Amino acid sequence: MSVSIRPFQPADTAAAVALWQTCGLTRPWNDPYQDIRRKMQVQPELFLVAVDGDTLIGTAMAGYDGHRGWLYYLASEPSRRGEGIGRRLVAAAEDALLEMGCPKVQLMVRPENGVAQGFYEALGYEPFEVWATGKRLIAD
Ligand SMILES: CC(C)(COP(=O)(O)OP(=O)(O)OC[C@H]1O[C@@H](n2cnc3c(N)ncnc32)[C@H](O)[C@@H]1OP(=O)(O)O)[C@@H](O)C(=O)NCCC(=O)NCCS
Repeated sequence: MSVSIRPFQPADTAAAVALWQTCGLTRPWNDPYQDIRRKMQVQPELFLVAVDGDTLIGTAMAGYDGHRGWLYYLASEPSRRGEGIGRRLVAAAEDALLEMGCPKVQLMVRPENGVAQGFYEALGYEPFEVWATGKRLIAD
């Protein structure tokens, strides 16, 4: 496997969005192109992609808010699952967060996503009970 992990570049946009759509990560209320434009403004170096040659095969979007690190948009190409791409993306994001002094990383998984739950368990992530809530500040 000649997979490498590097920061996202604008030229990766179409492939990243296509991967998210294939992986079921997009939602009607979230414009993925807008998400990418916003990420380019805030800690763009924490938006990582996995590539095999010129082909994008994975993504992970991380952020550090000064208290916790967060992971979003973790995806690996369906035909390349089980090769360790997801694990490498998360490890690279963890390394980048740690480099910034981030003490803890966490993420939200939709309850019906058993694959992601199994994946994160395998990586040593521990579930915790929260009542998650949110408020939209900008209607896209
Ligand atoms: C979650 C996802 C990124 C995993 O990617 P992947 O490249 O297949 O993961 P890896 O090959 O690095 O697997 C890492 C570990 O997780 C485990 N794992 C992967 N999928 C699993 C599953 N469905 N159930 C249990 N464990 C799983 C593997 O066994 C592996 O453990 P090992 O290294 O000890 O063998 C991929 O399934 C995906 O893109 N899913 C759709 C998008 C998604 O749900 N993203 C998460 C949103 S919160």
